[in-house]
Amino acid sequence: MKALLLQAAAVLVTVSGLTACHFDKSKPNFELIQDMMESPAIKPQEYDPNTPNHISGREPVKGTVPVGFESEPMDDLAVAEKEMKNPIAGDMSKDVLWAGQKYYEINCALCHGQKGEGAVESKSLVAEKMALKPPVITNDKIVGWSDVHLYYVISRGQGMMGPYANHVPQKYRWQLVNYIRHLQKNYKK
Ligand code: HEC
Repeated sequence: MKALLLQAAAVLVTVSGLTACHFDKSKPNFELIQDMMESPAIKPQEYDPNTPNHISGREPVKGTVPVGFESEPMDDLAVAEKEMKNPIAGDMSKDVLWAGQKYYEINCALCHGQKGEGAVESKSLVAEKMALKPPVITNDKIVGWSDVHLYYVISRGQGMMGPYANHVPQKYRWQLVNYIRHLQKNYKK
C-alpha cells in the first residue's frame, strides 16, 4: 500500500512538472548552449557576401528545367518562332479541346472572358478595377499570330500580363493554344 502511494505521488510530481514547463512560443527559446544554433551555414534568403549578387539563393543554370519538363528556346520570340512548332497543330479532337478548355477556364477566362471576348464585353468582375483591361483574344490580330506566339505569351506573359507557365503545365499548353483557336473559329470578334 505504501509503495502504491509513493508511486502515485511520483506520477503526480512528474505530470505537474511537465505541465509547468510551458514555453511562450511567441518568443525565441533561451539558448543554453549556442554552438548548434549559430552555425556558419547561410540560410535561405540571407545576405551572402561571397556571391556576385550577394543573395544566398542561387539562380538555376541557364536552360535548367524541372523534372518532367523539356527545355524550350523561349528567351526570344523570333527564335522561338523559328525553332518551335505546335506538335498538335489543328487538332480539334475532343480530348485536346477538353484539356484546353479546362486550363482556359481556370486560368484565362476570368480576365479574357469565357469566349475570349475580352474583359469589357465579358464584364469581368476581376478586371473591372484593372487599369489595363484584358483584351479580346479572338480578333484578327490574335488570329494572325502563330501558335508559337500564343504559346510564348502563355508561358512568358506579355506587358501587364504575368506568365502562366506555373499554372498551365507544359504538357497541356499546346492544348490550350488549340482551344483558343477553337474559340477564335466559333466566336470571332
Ligand atoms: C489577371 C488578368 C489576366 C489573366 C488571368 C490572363 N491574362 Fe492575358 N492579358 C491580360 C492583360 C492585361 C493583357 C494585355 C497585356 C499587355 O499587352 O500589356 C493580356 C494579353 C494577352 C494576350 C495578347 C493580347 C494582345 O492583344 O496583345 C493574349 C494572347 C493573352 N493575354 C492570353 C491569355 C491566356 C491564354 C491566359 C490564360 C493562360 C491569360 N491571357 C490570362 C490579362 C490577363
